Amino acid sequence: MLHTVSLLLFACAGLGVVALAARAIASRRLLADGPGDEPERRREHSAPLPSPAVTGALTTPPWPAGRPSSARQSDVMGPIVHLSDLHLGGSPAAASALEAAVAAVPPAALVVVTGDLTNGGRRSELARFDRLVEPVADRLIVVPGNHDRCGDDVGAGLMGGARVDLVTRGGCAIVRVDSTAPHNRIAWLSHGRLCELVIRQVDEALASVRDGRLTVVALHHHVVPLPAEGFWERVSEALHLPNHSELALGTEFLKVLRGRCDLVLHGHRHVPRQFVIDPDAARPLRVFNAGSTTGLGAFRQFDAPAAQLDGGRWVHFQPTPRPSPHLAPQPLCRLQLA
Ligand SMILES: [Fe+2]
Repeated sequence: MLHTVSLLLFACAGLGVVALAARAIASRRLLADGPGDEPERRREHSAPLPSPAVTGALTTPPWPAGRPSSARQSDVMGPIVHLSDLHLGGSPAAASALEAAVAAVPPAALVVVTGDLTNGGRRSELARFDRLVEPVADRLIVVPGNHDRCGDDVGAGLMGGARVDLVTRGGCAIVRVDSTAPHNRIAWLSHGRLCELVIRQVDEALASVRDGRLTVVALHHHVVPLPAEGFWERVSEALHLPNHSELALGTEFLKVLRGRCDLVLHGHRHVPRQFVIDPDAARPLRVFNAGSTTGLGAFRQFDAPAAQLDGGRWVHFQPTPRPSPHLAPQPLCRLQLA
């Protein structure tokens, strides 16, 4: 009995030391990042994590299903397929799952992949990704995730060094945002980062989008608080570590997007979620987390121009669909920006 108690005390003390060390490393990494991140670095280092930017995110009444969507899908040529968190190289099943997913993509669909293409950021993993997505390469949009920054740092080249850019495909404008940062080189420092400069660049990109285009913002990290969903996420939350937190400037980011954008597509957290901001406005802003496509065996598809932007629909691409409550048709939860 005494032995067990001693072991428990030792384990708790060890966890505390690890947490303190992690916080110190995280702080040092924030201070050591490149010169271009100065305003953001100061803000993240000096300020505690903000209180939740969204109130009642998971408890407010859902937006009524079947509400007519805005008319902005009129000039979109085909469906939009959202993939994320493929983690190629993380398990033998990931590659076969991605192959099956690509085979299930309908012709002419735009394919948006919101990061963590690879598990270890290795060139060999990215080469495998390139081979597997070759059938849809001409309509593929990718952004880097934190895992892509590890190893060989293949994520650094996915957007050619830009933090923000604008791509136009099939009548759809896609603003790509790199929410990763140098601290992601350490695998478990997985949180993302935005700075005022990036938000300003997104603002400028949106200003250049032609009126009437369906507009999508794609990034890896989540912009609103999400519940801790695993042991380490709960540990990080309890210890107030940033690893699993939403983007620190998520609210400011959404305020720039509202009224000017239709879809925010992201990943990072492996459980799918769906929200709507300003549901009664002429142009609601919908936020979708794809979850881990290869883990779920399913992806969301937004059909346009008959657009089902209100929730998309899940396409199961494995021979035997995996039962999951997260893949059932879900109403959008209404978000109120603080
Ligand atoms: Fe991630």
